[in-house]
Amino acid sequence: MNATSLPAPAAAPKLLHIITWGCQMNVYDSARMADVLRPLGYAPAESAATADMVILNTCHIRDRAAEKVFSELGRLRAIKQARAEAGQDTILAVAGCVAQAEGREILARAPYVDIVLGPQTYHRLPEMVARAARAAGAVIETDFPAEQKFDFLPDATGPQLPGGVTAFLTVQEGCDKFCSFCVVPYTRGAEASRPAVSVLAEARLMARQGVREITLLGQNVNAYHGEGPDGRIWSLARLLRALSDIPGLARLRYTTSHPRDMDEALIAAHGSLPALMPFLHLPVQSGSDRMLAAMRRGHDAASYRALVDRLRRARADLALSSDFIVGHPGETEADFDATLALVRDIGFAQAFSFKYSPRPGTPAAGAGHAAPEAIKDERLQRLQALIREQQDGFNAASVGTRVPVLFTGRGRYPGQIGGRSPWLQAVHAAGPETLIGTQAMVTIEAMRTNSLTGTLLRERACA
Ligand code: 5AD
Ligand code: SF4
Repeated sequence: MNATSLPAPAAAPKLLHIITWGCQMNVYDSARMADVLRPLGYAPAESAATADMVILNTCHIRDRAAEKVFSELGRLRAIKQARAEAGQDTILAVAGCVAQAEGREILARAPYVDIVLGPQTYHRLPEMVARAARAAGAVIETDFPAEQKFDFLPDATGPQLPGGVTAFLTVQEGCDKFCSFCVVPYTRGAEASRPAVSVLAEARLMARQGVREITLLGQNVNAYHGEGPDGRIWSLARLLRALSDIPGLARLRYTTSHPRDMDEALIAAHGSLPALMPFLHLPVQSGSDRMLAAMRRGHDAASYRALVDRLRRARADLALSSDFIVGHPGETEADFDATLALVRDIGFAQAFSFKYSPRPGTPAAGAGHAAPEAIKDERLQRLQALIREQQDGFNAASVGTRVPVLFTGRGRYPGQIGGRSPWLQAVHAAGPETLIGTQAMVTIEAMRTNSLTGTLLRERACA
């Protein structure tokens, strides 16, 4: 063995606890923060109370984001104090989009926080930890560094969950769309794509470790334009094609997409790549052209309808999901009716709907005319009732059909295993745990509130 291949001296074992709120990208980021800290000797802790370092990975997209953070920090402060009394140090870090948007405020109101870091600076965590450990005062890193974080993060060590069958993989981050209501362009910065080579390497590693389904993540994932191994710029469709050749990867998904970035090649990929699952989350936010213009979405309701038609022509069994906002400044009853009409016309397998909440610094926040709370509540209820009806209808239509289920773990009851259909429905069936990590055909027999139950067609894996 030569000197360069000697293992690095083992760092003293320390425990790390990460609390993750918000989107799937935060889940992925938390795993990568654990990856960068592992060489420093940090292993997962069961809880904050036993951890030498606690990271609160925050979300700023809606609601009372900052208040929620300060209340959780109060709880963590008590833990830090109790540990200090027992002679143990705790490094407390706040990461994610609230850290990015309100870093200075956090340090002013919660001076016991040691590190504040925005999503673009996770690769600098080891250096920040060293600075905090030297008690050099609180460390704040919320600039958008000149270097790309993707270039500086170490290679991922595998799926987010050991033994995980499904995993997230970030391929693109940030957004240049600046929708009127949205804080993401300010907290996550400009659009940036990871080189395809590094995405493919991470996907191959995941596949070798037993991952069968990968969901590609990006705030605007279909705007992906990463450098390909051939030196050309690859689109998301090109990347998906390369990923679908990786042995062992049975299923691919991607989220979240913007209607304006659904290009011909990507639409066609839904028809030509069997691994690409027939389920697409395609937020439209509103069905009113007036509101879509006020939201600066860059498309109207007719073009969304036309896009869905094209997608369904490419893949007839494609199911759709969406996001909606009710009560955006200026929204009238007629605008809201247009949203209900669009939902009825399209028919969604599921959808998320939110009451508009002003985000400081966004154009809509200064626009005035936000709908009163009671109106927002009432519209939200009507929209959610319609969406629920459609979701139940979609799930009810599965009863009696045979669907391939990728089993990911135990089911709800003993003797059951559970997984997902291609359309992201949770499915439970009696079966052996040896099927976990494989796809098998299930005949769907009944619909529960948020899941389906069925019988394994034969107790043998089909992929
Ligand atoms: N208020 C309410 N909902 C919002 N979303 C984003 N910003 C806001 C806001 N200020 C919703 C959008 C987006 C989803 C992730 O969150 O529907 O698609
Ligand atoms: Fe936010 Fe999505 Fe609009 Fe970008 S495209 S500003 S992430 S809602």
